[in-house]
Parts: sequence; structure tokens; C-alpha cells
Amino acid sequence: MRETLDIMVKDGPPRERTAGKAVFVKTYGCQMNVYDSERMVDLLRPLGYRPVDDPAAADLVILNTCHIREKAAEKLYSDLGRLRETKKEKVGEMTIAVAGCVAQAEGAEVQSRADIVDIVVGPQAYHRLPELIAKAARRKGEALDTEFAVEEKFDALAKSRSADGVSAFLTVQEGCDKFCTFCVVPYTRGQEVSRKAAAILAEARMLADQGVRELTLLGQNVNAWASVGEDGRSWGLGDLCRALARIDGVLRIRFMTSHPRDMDDGLIAALGKEEKLMPFLHLPVQAGSDRILAAMNRGHTAADYLALIGKIRDARPDIALSGDFIVGFPGETAEDFEATLALARAVGYASAYSFKYSRRPGTPAASMPKQVNETEKDRRLEALQALLRAQRDAFCASLVGKALPVLFERPGRRPGQLIGRTPYLQSLHAYAPASMIGSIAPARILGVTSNALAGEVVGRAEGMHPAVTKAEDAQTPRE
Ligand code: SAH
Ligand code: SF4
Ligand code: F3S
Repeated sequence: MRETLDIMVKDGPPRERTAGKAVFVKTYGCQMNVYDSERMVDLLRPLGYRPVDDPAAADLVILNTCHIREKAAEKLYSDLGRLRETKKEKVGEMTIAVAGCVAQAEGAEVQSRADIVDIVVGPQAYHRLPELIAKAARRKGEALDTEFAVEEKFDALAKSRSADGVSAFLTVQEGCDKFCTFCVVPYTRGQEVSRKAAAILAEARMLADQGVRELTLLGQNVNAWASVGEDGRSWGLGDLCRALARIDGVLRIRFMTSHPRDMDDGLIAALGKEEKLMPFLHLPVQAGSDRILAAMNRGHTAADYLALIGKIRDARPDIALSGDFIVGFPGETAEDFEATLALARAVGYASAYSFKYSRRPGTPAASMPKQVNETEKDRRLEALQALLRAQRDAFCASLVGKALPVLFERPGRRPGQLIGRTPYLQSLHAYAPASMIGSIAPARILGVTSNALAGEVVGRAEGMHPAVTKAEDAQTPRE
């Protein structure tokens, strides 16, 4: 059951506010939190809040937290410790809001451990943030005018959305019903809920009109997305991606994070047929031992996962894979861990994330016997990361000399340089005119640096959207 601790507003001293306020947001955790933080800022703009980079300059500080591992949750408390000093020293007033998954999972503890926190708001209630700020201010002797109709959260947040940049996140699904035994997400984000196709398409069209060229569809289990489509049929994520691909201006589509159990044939077929769907798939497996996969409640075996990857590669031969792993799950033996290494070798990942198992309160695995000690977890993590690093380096090296389509996103550090992304989400820098931002051009890979590729443009840019061309014409002085 989800906790019902969505919202709490604390009492505090009276304060005064003027128009033109500043909000500082710190985001911890996953892309969903990044998306949510952006939406909160959008939502606060009409109330006169502008985003700032310095908490000391802010009237409102929002900490958008993550509960996934112990370290992630602890960061909140150390940041609150520092903020206590800032709040004391600050001339004027500061409201502190704790949002996100820690707020949801342990809101009461947040309040008892940190009296400087004014608002605690869980992920299902962000659309009510203006109302909460008003409520917090009223308790302090002042009211803000924040008439806000209570609507469905997603759509309420989408309404105030403004895009900046070439690539944008778009939440299509939230929550998780999988209940992996190590994971807090089903408790912090609730049940799987899919946003309606029509609302997603409307938001995507609005983003494309504002110059967005790449959409990354987000969901805790994004491939569990299901809705009635514009044609009245029931749609899966594959259908949604195809509909999004038809939007003028949308050049690339990605989605994350997928669960192996929800990779249906429709989505695999879409990956095979739809060129705008990028050939890069994040498909976490967590472990390679069937015994551990069962104890994790993943609902598939290592062989199932490998068979699935085979099917996906048959449909889309240029696909590259990324994954998540956990080492040191309770009861994981040296042999089980070897099976994880073997699975990683069998797949060959282009990139991957790996974590030491972290015991999360309230999850079934936290009370399982045979917890693995930290030293052993460290050893296993190091061994797995060495393998995954070597795989990533080999993948990057295999691209040198090849030409890849690159979507240019922004100016680079050096004059005349642009930064873009390959289909495999790698950053690439190349010398190219600023007018190419927002378009895709083939770039030959010249070399690999620690966190990016160096390339040179070897062909014409494609996909310039009329709206962008017009805007550039208007701004670029003619010689
Ligand atoms: N919904 C996604 C991602 C969930 S969280 C999925 O199903 O894959 C992102 C990653 O954090 C997980 O894939 C897992 O590798 C890791 N993770 C989750 N809970 C963890 C825990 N208790 N300890 C260590 N890593 C964890
Ligand atoms: Fe967590 Fe498992 Fe759900 Fe992913 S699928 S969010 S790991 S419970
Ligand atoms: Fe963390 Fe919540 Fe995302 S726990 S990983 S912020 S869904």
C-alpha cells in the first residue's frame, strides 16, 4: 500500500513577500525527478518565481529527493544541515520545501529531523505546490493569490510547460507494480499509471513547435504504458512511439526505463521499423543468477533476458544496450556473482550502471538472511565495473572512423564547436555552425575522450524545422 503522506505544511513565523521571487531547486535521483523539477519551476513562474543557482539568493528552496539507496536519502539530511546555516544568515525569508521520494517515504521523519522544513510534498501532489506555498505563507500571516483548480496531476503540470533546448523529457507513465524485493519505487511512486495518449501527443506537439527535436519518454516502467489511442484502439508504447514519430519536427524518440517483462512484440516491431526510435535501449537486468533473480522477484530468468535481447537484435541489428546491475543482494554467493559477470559478457553492453545492494527500510530484501558484507560488495562492484568499463571502451573504439547521425544540441566549450549526441546517447563535439543546433548531420568519429567523442561533420544537416529556420532568419544579421 502507498503511504498517504503526500502533503504536510508546517507552522512558522510571520514573513513578508514581495513580487519577483527566486526559487532554487536541487534535484537528486532519476530523470523522472529532473522532469518533475522542471515542471515545478514552470508551475511557479506565473507566481513570480524565477529560478536561481544559489540557495542563498532564494526565497524558496526545493529539494527534490531520491530514496533509492541509503546514500541518496542521506544526502538530503546533509544538505538540510547546510541550509540551516544559509537560512539563518539570509537577509529576508526563505521557505524550504522537501519534495520527491524521500518526502513520500519518510515525510514525518524529515519534519522531525529538520525543523527548518516548511513544506513536505510527495511526487503525486506537485500540481498543488502553489497552493501549498500559499498555505505555508498564510500560516505565517500572509496570503498568496494562488487559485489552482485541482486537476489530474500530469495535465496540470503539462499546462505550464515551456521548452528550452533541443531535447526534452516527457513523462508518459509513473509508478511501478513490479515490487522487486530490493526497491522502494512502488512505495514512493505508487501504482503504475499511464498518461492518456491524447495528452502526451498534445504536449509533444507543443514541444516540437517550441524547437524540441528529441523526446525521451519517461516512466518507472515506461514499456508498461498502455492507453486508448487516437484511433480508438488500445495502444502500447510501440503505437505511441509511431504516433509521436509522425509529429512534424520530432526527429528522435527514446524511452526509459524498460522492464524486460514488458518488452512486448509491438514495441520490438516498432524499434525495428521506426527509424526515429533510437537504436539504444536501457534494459536493466540486475543479476545473472536465476536464484537471485527469483529472490529479487524480477519475474524472468537470465535465459529469458538473453532470448529477449536476441529478439530485439534480430529486429534492430544496430541496437546498443545499456543496463543496471546490483551486486551483493542478500544470499548472493561468489557463484551467483560469476553468473552476473557471465551474463554481462554474453550481452556486451555499450554502457551500464552498477550498484552495491543497499538495504531499504520496508522492502522485503531488507529482512532477508545472509546479507553480504560491505567489503565483499566493494570487491564485486569493482570487478563488475571493470568489465562494464572495458565493454563501453570497446564499443566506443568500434565507432572510430564510422559516420553516425548526430543531433546537435548546444554550443561547445571552444569557439565554433557544437555538442551533440549520437544515437547511442554519447556526447560528441565537432566544429559546426551554430545554425546546425536542432538538426541532425552525419559526423565521422575521430576519437574518444574520457566522456565524449570527437567528430567531424561529413554531410548535410537534415531535419531543419521550418519554425527554427524562420526564427534563425529573424535573428541572424545578413551580410
Ligand atoms: N524502474 C527501473 C529503475 C529503478 S531504480 C527498473 O526497473 O529498472 C534504478 C536502479 O537502481 C535499478 O535498476 C537498480 O539497479 C538500482 N536499485 C534500486 N534499488 C536498489 C537498492 N536497494 N540497492 C541498490 N541498487 C538499487
Ligand atoms: Fe523498482 Fe523493480 Fe519497479 Fe524497477 S521494476 S522500479 S527496480 S520495483
Ligand atoms: Fe529515486 Fe524516486 Fe527516482 S527513489 S530513482 S527519485 S523514482
